Amino acid sequence: MPVQQGADQWYSVGELAHFLKADESAVARLLRVDGLRREDIAGVGHLHRADLDRFFRTFQAAQAIPESRHALPEWLEGCSAPWAVTLTSRYREPYVYPTALSPAQGDLLRTLVANIAPRTTVEIGSYVGISTLWLAAGLEQGGSNGLLHAIDLFGELWPFPPYRYAYVPDLLHLARESARAARLDQHIRFHQGDSQEVGKRLGALLDGPIDFLYIDGDHTAAGCLADFLLYYPHVAVGGYIAFHDINPAHCGCTGPRQVLDAVVKPSPTLALVELPTTPENYGIALVRKLGVDQHLLTMPAADQRGR
Ligand SMILES: C[S@@+](CC[C@H](N)C(=O)[O-])C[C@H]1O[C@@H](n2cnc3c(N)ncnc32)[C@H](O)[C@@H]1O
Repeated sequence: MPVQQGADQWYSVGELAHFLKADESAVARLLRVDGLRREDIAGVGHLHRADLDRFFRTFQAAQAIPESRHALPEWLEGCSAPWAVTLTSRYREPYVYPTALSPAQGDLLRTLVANIAPRTTVEIGSYVGISTLWLAAGLEQGGSNGLLHAIDLFGELWPFPPYRYAYVPDLLHLARESARAARLDQHIRFHQGDSQEVGKRLGALLDGPIDFLYIDGDHTAAGCLADFLLYYPHVAVGGYIAFHDINPAHCGCTGPRQVLDAVVKPSPTLALVELPTTPENYGIALVRKLGVDQHLLTMPAADQRGR
């Protein structure tokens, strides 16, 4: 927990080392030499909250830890559409890889949405809004005047060694700014909160049934199942449900795979296509709801998250 002094918050060397999975001595050394806002509190070095991001980036450079970034395709870097310019600049930030999807995967989503032209799209797991921009760019291209509801906890973002050395205090603000810069904000409504809580209010939030649901939030089996079961009744017959990260051997999470195998495949009214993705084969599943499966409406999901 940071130390609060008036309006200021200070993080100890120990806390910083914990976030960085690093040696306290290396962190303490860097705090001293870098001229950051530093304070000795009870004999221990502390860093001001406002300098966290700069410190984490400085730490990465000082330790010569290579930056991990998605490679950008030439066409995206060369595209002057505001959404492409915004995506290009966001993809250069150190907080993107590997959590946000790759440009090739994003472009797949954009193309699907542009062709399907959904009126109502829901995304569970927006993170910094990269996939949100790809989906909304598809809405813009499809010309359907569709609306995307992007749901996430939108908490603070801390380092995630060995990939990410950054701090973002307000992910919702960042995602909103990206949507504005991309000139796609007219297509997007952000909802900050647990997908289970937001999901219970969907009837009031949506104008009509969901035509395209993108699930990329809680990747545990219990969390992914709970999201699928809660949102499924709101998906239109004929509508689509896409799952990201369906190949545990590549992405390291098992939830989406388990939901596909245990719930989607056995259902006679869900048609499933599994798509490989590049450069990492995290995989995307596209599911079409062909009818209402009564069994899924009554399947228990409560307590599945283990909370
Ligand atoms: C893999 S990231 C999403 C990446 C994003 N779709 C992209 O490709 O740009 C997963 C996101 O799900 C969010 N998340 C996890 N559990 C959640 C929950 N219960 N409710 C809402 N969001 C959740 C996390 O905050 C995180 O931002």
